[in-house]
Amino acid sequence: MVDAKIRIQQLSYAYAGEEALRNVTLDVQANAITALFGPAGGGKTTLLRLINRLNDLVEETSMRGSILLDGEDIYAPGTDVPELRRRVGMVFALPLPLPGTIRENVVCGPQLAGVRDWARLEEILERSLAQAALWNEVKDRLDSPAIALSGGQQQRLCIARSLALEPEVLLLDEPTSGLDPISTGKVEESLFELKQQYTIVIVPHSVQQAARVADYAAFFLMGELIEVQEGNQIFTTPRDQRTEDYVTGRFG
Ligand SMILES: Nc1ncnc2c1ncn2[C@@H]1O[C@H](COP(=O)(O)OP(=O)(O)O)[C@@H](O)[C@H]1O
Ligand SMILES: [Mg+2]
Repeated sequence: MVDAKIRIQQLSYAYAGEEALRNVTLDVQANAITALFGPAGGGKTTLLRLINRLNDLVEETSMRGSILLDGEDIYAPGTDVPELRRRVGMVFALPLPLPGTIRENVVCGPQLAGVRDWARLEEILERSLAQAALWNEVKDRLDSPAIALSGGQQQRLCIARSLALEPEVLLLDEPTSGLDPISTGKVEESLFELKQQYTIVIVPHSVQQAARVADYAAFFLMGELIEVQEGNQIFTTPRDQRTEDYVTGRFG
């Protein structure tokens, strides 16, 4: 068994004394999709943000436990946070393309990171859009405004923008919550492509989506990780009564 890409160990986290995560321990495997699901307020977004250190500037928080990426504690003093955020990309619920063209949206990250070579940028552009399953739809209009794309295309563009930075991990927080079923299907399709190469952690927008995409599914309830199982097992044979109640639609 290969070591987990991300190890979350006895992680507790509170906002102004209110616990949002309680003693969570979870291994996230590489080249797989791990789905964090459960009712709102369970701490899923908080956990994603902690993996990317996006909560660093939130005041009055407290944290116990650790998060390891490739065995290294990402909260250890001296951690290179910008480099961590390059290695761990994040995609949010509402696609937010930057003003400008499709091309500019994808290449601005690498450009800011110092890539100047035009041919290299073109290569990154095509690779990222292809991996996000968007290339074929936009290859003839790379210089059109990104904002003219459909919602589903904009979300795949945001995924491409993350991929342009050559991350190792992709965190997706309800990436299809604003999308129609066809666009949702396309985003899910791109995730299946991406897991060959990346470690993916997703908060799906429904139990159904969790069941469709998860290689590992973890059920969160009020800050606690109730259980995690491989594949679809959590939906067919939940171990915990609370998981069963949720996946059968008794609450949530
Ligand atoms: N920035 C914040 N400041 C204070 N409380 C927060 C903040 N973000 C989230 N919370 C609280 O933490 C708990 C978990 O929220 P969240 O991580 O967003 O859960 P989920 O994504 O599962 O809905 C909730 O009670 C929420 O109100
Ligand atoms: Mg959330």
